[in-house]
Amino acid sequence: MRLKNEKQLEALRQSGSRLAQVMKLMSESVAPGISTGELDELAEAKIRQLGGIPIFKGYGASHGTPFPASICTSLNEEVVHGIPRRDRIIKEGDLVKIDMGLRFDGMVSDMARTFAVGTVSKDAQKILDVTRESLERGIGRLKIGACISDYAAAVQGYAESNGCSVVRELVGHGVGFELHEDPYIPNYVSRKMDDMLFREGMAVALEPMINLGKHHVKIGKDGWTFVTSDASLSAHFEDTVIFSKDGVEIVTR
Ligand code: CO
Repeated sequence: MRLKNEKQLEALRQSGSRLAQVMKLMSESVAPGISTGELDELAEAKIRQLGGIPIFKGYGASHGTPFPASICTSLNEEVVHGIPRRDRIIKEGDLVKIDMGLRFDGMVSDMARTFAVGTVSKDAQKILDVTRESLERGIGRLKIGACISDYAAAVQGYAESNGCSVVRELVGHGVGFELHEDPYIPNYVSRKMDDMLFREGMAVALEPMINLGKHHVKIGKDGWTFVTSDASLSAHFEDTVIFSKDGVEIVTR
């Protein structure tokens, strides 16, 4: 794990605040009738207008099919990594997850939000609310000297006490120089986990993926999109957090 110096942490603040601006545009654009492909085009244009580089585009080229878009758009029972398409139209009642990252001044930030489109079912609203709050509970445990397992226990405890389940196969991660760095940051506790202390100079992307049903997920035919195995609804929130001399800072808000 490579720690970041003050200059690199400052670049992460700049990167994160730009990414938050792109997400604000997404929050204003998600509506019945728009396609996920159009959302991707809007996001990419905004990222470039702000001087950033869309980091998801072409990701994974070294081991298979590169991701073709600047954002991931995952609907309803899709968990993460959905591919935007011009013929995938968002409709009233959908739960829309948007995940994206950009590089600015050399540094990568990563974030995701779940949006409810118009009036959604009680179940959809529940999984959105529980997932958002689970990330808040996890972030609430962060400080220099706290453990990854402190974060994970808070996320898992909140999700499971509300009858929901935490995805195991996908986890948060270090971020900054690249999209995915050490360490892994699971959103659940296990005896096998590589626990470690958060310390000054770390940058991490925290991203609980929470299912209304069971925790199992499977990958779809396109080789990218993860869906819940029991077709239950899923939600996802992610923020990039840095540990500086001033303590814990969420740079994507
Ligand atoms: Co991430």
